[in-house]
Amino acid sequence: MISKVYSLNLPNINYFGINSLVKIAETAKIFNARNAFIVTDINLPVTGIPDIIKYNLEENDIKATVWSGAFPNPQDINVVEGVKVFKEGGFDSIIAVGGGSSIDCAKGIRIILDNGGKIQDYEGNDKIKIRKTPLIAVATTAGTSSEIMKIAVITNTEMKDVKYKMGIVDWKVLPDASINDPLLTVSLDQFYTAGTGMDVFTHAVEAIMSLNSNTVSDTLGLKAINIISKWLKIVVDDGNNVEARTNIVHAVLLAGMAFNIAALGITHSLAHPLGTYYNLHHGMTNAMILPYVCRFNFNESVDKLALIAEAMDINTVNMSVIEAASKAIEGIEKLLVDIKAPQKFRELRVGTDKIERMAIDAYNDFCAGTSPRKATVEDFKAIYESMI
Ligand SMILES: [Fe+2]
Repeated sequence: MISKVYSLNLPNINYFGINSLVKIAETAKIFNARNAFIVTDINLPVTGIPDIIKYNLEENDIKATVWSGAFPNPQDINVVEGVKVFKEGGFDSIIAVGGGSSIDCAKGIRIILDNGGKIQDYEGNDKIKIRKTPLIAVATTAGTSSEIMKIAVITNTEMKDVKYKMGIVDWKVLPDASINDPLLTVSLDQFYTAGTGMDVFTHAVEAIMSLNSNTVSDTLGLKAINIISKWLKIVVDDGNNVEARTNIVHAVLLAGMAFNIAALGITHSLAHPLGTYYNLHHGMTNAMILPYVCRFNFNESVDKLALIAEAMDINTVNMSVIEAASKAIEGIEKLLVDIKAPQKFRELRVGTDKIERMAIDAYNDFCAGTSPRKATVEDFKAIYESMI
């Protein structure tokens, strides 16, 4: 038997459930925070959530300052600026508040504070030496699972004409603690609810199809798919449904753990250049691409796709594995229609001028290595062209 070693790395403390935000000050005190740097994105302050956290901390004698310098699809320059502001302010800890953009930017800031150099130095696997500055991640979207992930995705803008997303993968990227309070996701509008939910769904499907999948990651991923299939349309139609929001948060944690163990695949490799060049929402981009990649992987992943159909509560009784696998793809396409997600480039106002460049970037993307079917640059180009 071929030996293969898997790992599951998570933050030391993870709170989830309705009102779990009440744990913020207690958690900050565990890590001796006295002067916290709250990292968020430019859009979140209007929700009032960063100020609620600041107030909560200050009520408990912890100074706090909100910095909203993380761009959507955060960039290396955001990390440089965040490090500068952190040092000038004499802060001792970071609290990331938001979705993947805020949390990944905060992870990048911590890496540089603790290790020096520039963020490009840490691209790839296991390059980080020191993990010292406390980092608490508070999720306000239900999508990326960045709050429990050992990965940070930062856009490299150093080159003149090429921008690409760097994957920094290391257990030392992990936040020290995470909070997933479903009440914080109630402020998400229909578009973001659908998009972040489809990011969760895509993480689960890609982890299940991954070359690194195993019984543990498959079990977690299939349950996440089951929950998203049942609850995503409900929560997109009624964002105030707290039961649905809570279930989606459970799926975020399950899919995040599956993704943590098994990694992803080429849906993400195709989504990263699209998101970078056209500044698209990550989850919505994945939603559009996922059925195309399931078809591309069909022969290699037919058994897994049949399991995904079952997890989606599609009746596959008396069907062959091939028929059941086809039903999974049809089920995903129906879900996209139900939540008004895009299925073609034109729906995201994406042009065709960058397909050649994006195909090369997708081929070099850090998620491609665990794809069950190896894709060439020509394959990536063909998949993009099929989405026009
Ligand atoms: Fe994702």
